[in-house]
Amino acid sequence: TQPLRVAIAGLGTVGAGVIRLIDANGELIARRAGRPIEVVAVSARDRAKDRGVDIARFAWVDDPVALGRHEGADVVVELIGGSDGPALALARSSFAAGKSFVTANKAMIAHHGLELARAAEDADVALKFEAAVAGGVPVIKGLREGAAANEIARVYGILNGTCNFILSRMEAEGRDFADVLAEAQAKGFAEADPSFDIDGVDAAHKLSILASLAFGTSPAFGDVAITGIRHVIAADIAEAAALGYRVRLLGLAEAGAGGLFQRVHPHLVPIDHPLAHVTGATNAVVAEGNFVGRLLFQGAGAGDGPTASAVVADLIDIARGEFGPAYAMPSASLAAQPPADPGER
Ligand code: HSE
Repeated sequence: TQPLRVAIAGLGTVGAGVIRLIDANGELIARRAGRPIEVVAVSARDRAKDRGVDIARFAWVDDPVALGRHEGADVVVELIGGSDGPALALARSSFAAGKSFVTANKAMIAHHGLELARAAEDADVALKFEAAVAGGVPVIKGLREGAAANEIARVYGILNGTCNFILSRMEAEGRDFADVLAEAQAKGFAEADPSFDIDGVDAAHKLSILASLAFGTSPAFGDVAITGIRHVIAADIAEAAALGYRVRLLGLAEAGAGGLFQRVHPHLVPIDHPLAHVTGATNAVVAEGNFVGRLLFQGAGAGDGPTASAVVADLIDIARGEFGPAYAMPSASLAAQPPADPGER
């Protein structure tokens, strides 16, 4: 059997994690995928950097965008990040060359998901982005596959590990916001620009992707009403606790009479709700289907191991030939609503 040959653009913690995972679990992956998955080419900013994995065995390509045309590869994995720039150029060049494309890039899918899904369908290849939402938690597969037969009423959850880490540490230890943020950055799960985390942008990227899957719309980041956690103070958390609530930054999308509402803001979560008990840098997503009932997906939303696990799961789907459209093409029936002031509802 022919191996699935993979080119990887971007060798940060996740890229190195993908190589490490395929090295460690290659045999079982080949068994489950029906054929071996082999990295053949890589591209990154710095070839010499010590990543704890041997990359000398792979072809080196200076220009990441050129990986999309790399003759020896069947699939391109994009781990560069950023909604536009080289990541988007690489996606386009990969589809133009008829290669499947796997990405962890939530910002790019949130902004360009429809264009890329159409390009993948036109080229009859896969666009896969399990790692873009909630890291290792298989919530994209859960919605696309597990709940595929259901009408979804609502999807909501804790989509940013940095914010959840900050809020739960403030709550448990009475610490200051800035102090806990510095710890999240030191632990490596905060974004390069942490304002994306604490101002709710990262959660909104992920929410718009979940909403597009749950409701058959195109991801519409601009339609998400966003408030982050910058202004949550220790006294808010203590007050909420006294009333039987915990403060969590939630992303929530629901279909109502007026259309699709999407919002990210700090919520008061009743202490007996499962999301009140999700602490640390964990992600958790709830989806409510009309036949399956309430589903809860929970696990590590960031980090090299979990995120690499999601990337390689997508590669296994492609190796098996099990992939349909990236998501249902937008239906005309559910108009996205412009950002609403959450206070109005
Ligand atoms: N900065 C993100 C988080 C990483 O804290 O959840 C994963 O997208």
